Amino acid sequence: MTAEGNDAAAARPPAPTRVLSGIQPTGRFHWGNYFGAIRQYIDLQTAGESYYFIADLHALTTVREPDRLRGLVHDAAVDLVALGLDPDRATLFVQSDVPEVTELTWLLMTVTPMGLLERCHAYKDKKTRGLPADAGLFTYPVLMSADILAYDATIVPVGEDQVQHIEVCRDLAGTFNHLYGEVFTLPKPRLVEGGARVPGTDGQKMSKSYDNTLDVFEDLAAQKKKIMRITTDSRPMEEPKNPDDDHLFALYALMAPESDRLKMADLYRRGGFGYGEVKKALAEAAAQFFAEARARRAALEADPQRIEAILSAGAGRAQAKARDVLDRARRACGLARGKAGKRLAGEKPSGKGGRL
Ligand code: TYM
Repeated sequence: MTAEGNDAAAARPPAPTRVLSGIQPTGRFHWGNYFGAIRQYIDLQTAGESYYFIADLHALTTVREPDRLRGLVHDAAVDLVALGLDPDRATLFVQSDVPEVTELTWLLMTVTPMGLLERCHAYKDKKTRGLPADAGLFTYPVLMSADILAYDATIVPVGEDQVQHIEVCRDLAGTFNHLYGEVFTLPKPRLVEGGARVPGTDGQKMSKSYDNTLDVFEDLAAQKKKIMRITTDSRPMEEPKNPDDDHLFALYALMAPESDRLKMADLYRRGGFGYGEVKKALAEAAAQFFAEARARRAALEADPQRIEAILSAGAGRAQAKARDVLDRARRACGLARGKAGKRLAGEKPSGKGGRL
């Protein structure tokens, strides 16, 4: 795992551990989302204050059907709770329920160099492939930075593909702090060993854009078919193989209990086995691994009001925190008027029709 901590200037006392991460509701979560990110959310929900959100504003750059987006947000919340996110320990909410974040995005946008965003991979990849990109996609890392800074997050558990965005966030926070004083806490990404880049069925990074995903809650028969089609090399069965070079083994290692994983690694090294056997073992291990979460999911699906209550309580807690940070940023850069810009959260504006 990478080091974690807080680089806020010595002028402020060290920030307490505050974990934050977001996930897009663009379809059912896949194994990459789970092993790269969600499993860390759950492990870290007892590490300190924690905030996890469903990134519906980010999803707007790809999901254009309103009803579908609403459904995806609800399903994402069900999935996260079913997988073990405990709303009594962690604050679970929907990104757009905290509009303070979009205002903070603007403040950050004013210190964002164009070149920094041009180098960001989501935009660069689309441009290289000749696909049309909108300003939402281009400025996506700024919104993500506001997401993180709005909660004074110190640790951001993510997969490898998000590390660049957290570096952007640190850059922007550093520039803002340099200009206006110590407003923001600088976060660090947290990656999990062995799960930071989960391979898909074709060996590339697992991603919906590559159509190579295995989903956490998909129908088991359909999943088994996909697993049986995982690409493998054409070396003869007898030949000993290195398990560490093989994406099928990497997937098995994530799902199987330690003793089975060691046995399988040994089989690879000895040779004389077929990939078909490994695939069958993987399908069984995966069914087993997510069995409890599947049962919890079924119960939660039957109680949509419970999910809405969780999200609404989470939004309240998240908004209170983001309001404080936004007020701090507004005062620092000269937007808050009255009392020499020292108005505090919750105070009424002094002028008529004024707005904090
Ligand atoms: P998203 O929704 O694409 O992915 C959610 C999380 O899953 C991780 N992930 C993977 N990890 C390992 N192997 C893979 N194959 C794999 N595929 C996905 C991602 O790294 C991510 O941690 N921009 C973010 C959402 C976001 C966010 C934030 C995250 C918005 N604001 C603030 C952190 C902090 C995204 O699109 O993730």
